[in-house]
Amino acid sequence: MRDIVVSKLRKTFKSKGKEVVAVDNLSFYVTRGEIFGLLGANGAGKSTTINMLAGLVLQDSGTIKLLGKDPKKDWEFVKNRMNVSTAYFPLTDVLTIRQNLRVYAKLYNVKNAEKKIDELLEQFELTKLADKKVVTLSSGERTRTALCKGLINDPQLLFLDECTVGLDPDIAEKTRRIIKDYQKKTGCTILFTSHYMHEVEELCDRIAFMDEGKLLTIATAAQLKKQVKKHQVELTLEDGSDELKELLQEEGLTVLGGRDNMLVFEIDAKSDDVNTIVQRLVKLGLSLKDIHIRKPTLDDIFIHFARRKK
Ligand SMILES: Nc1ncnc2c1ncn2[C@@H]1O[C@H](COP(=O)(O)OP(=O)(O)OP(=O)(O)O)[C@@H](O)[C@H]1O
Ligand SMILES: [Mg+2]
Repeated sequence: MRDIVVSKLRKTFKSKGKEVVAVDNLSFYVTRGEIFGLLGANGAGKSTTINMLAGLVLQDSGTIKLLGKDPKKDWEFVKNRMNVSTAYFPLTDVLTIRQNLRVYAKLYNVKNAEKKIDELLEQFELTKLADKKVVTLSSGERTRTALCKGLINDPQLLFLDECTVGLDPDIAEKTRRIIKDYQKKTGCTILFTSHYMHEVEELCDRIAFMDEGKLLTIATAAQLKKQVKKHQVELTLEDGSDELKELLQEEGLTVLGGRDNMLVFEIDAKSDDVNTIVQRLVKLGLSLKDIHIRKPTLDDIFIHFARRKK
């Protein structure tokens, strides 16, 4: 079952008389129970995509199917079963956290709303702040309130657009746990955007990269990381980095930098270069103090895609 099916979606905006193509010929699907990451540089078109899926922005062309329905025809069905949360969500400043959540509980036709609100406040450690006006909250407290709003109707389809911005590391970790537990418990489908690659890697089953409105690739984090063929090695000697530099040059390896007795160089992921270097160092009587092989991270992949044309 595919809970999100997007086909040839396009959205343009008029800005200062010029046409901006925010989303261009975008097609993808998300299977029920998946956490699907949408990544891309600032302005790539992620939020515009989510806003079209959430019914906040109308597409110029292309089709959207959510939970097997055409949201244009079955809006009430889809609306009650989905929700969206972002750290930038415009909550009503003059209302308290609880009052804001009551408004959304009404909008989403939530039964036993007070019980649900209490549960969410507890989960996101907001119980003590429940009767504070939103205008007085810190940015992390607002973000957590927006997350409560996102889960108010136990959505089967959840759009999380940069929902962890501004959270301290402790709350951010707890939030990721809440999202994972909620997904496991309900089997819901989540579309997730973030600029924090470690959380994308931790949460997402598959990842789509967008650039200037277009889809570049869809793959798992492991598949994406295999696309980077070079690994970095950081090697520290007790003494003798000049000999090491010469040795690396002889082996045709690129030195990226270093300091004192440490050098950073690149190797092909599949090569035997590290073994060769270590054996040659031993033969020269140079002792190794530390060695660290840095495999590509999702950050490297992001940079690879973001700088691809530049
Ligand atoms: N309402 C609007 N009016 C004019 N241009 C817009 C509007 N909304 C988005 N855009 C433009 O559309 C493009 C895509 O924006 P979008 O917000 O979807 O990017 P994003 O991938 O979410 O970026 P970020 O990582 O910064 O959140 C950008 O060039 C943006 O300036
Ligand atoms: Mg955005």
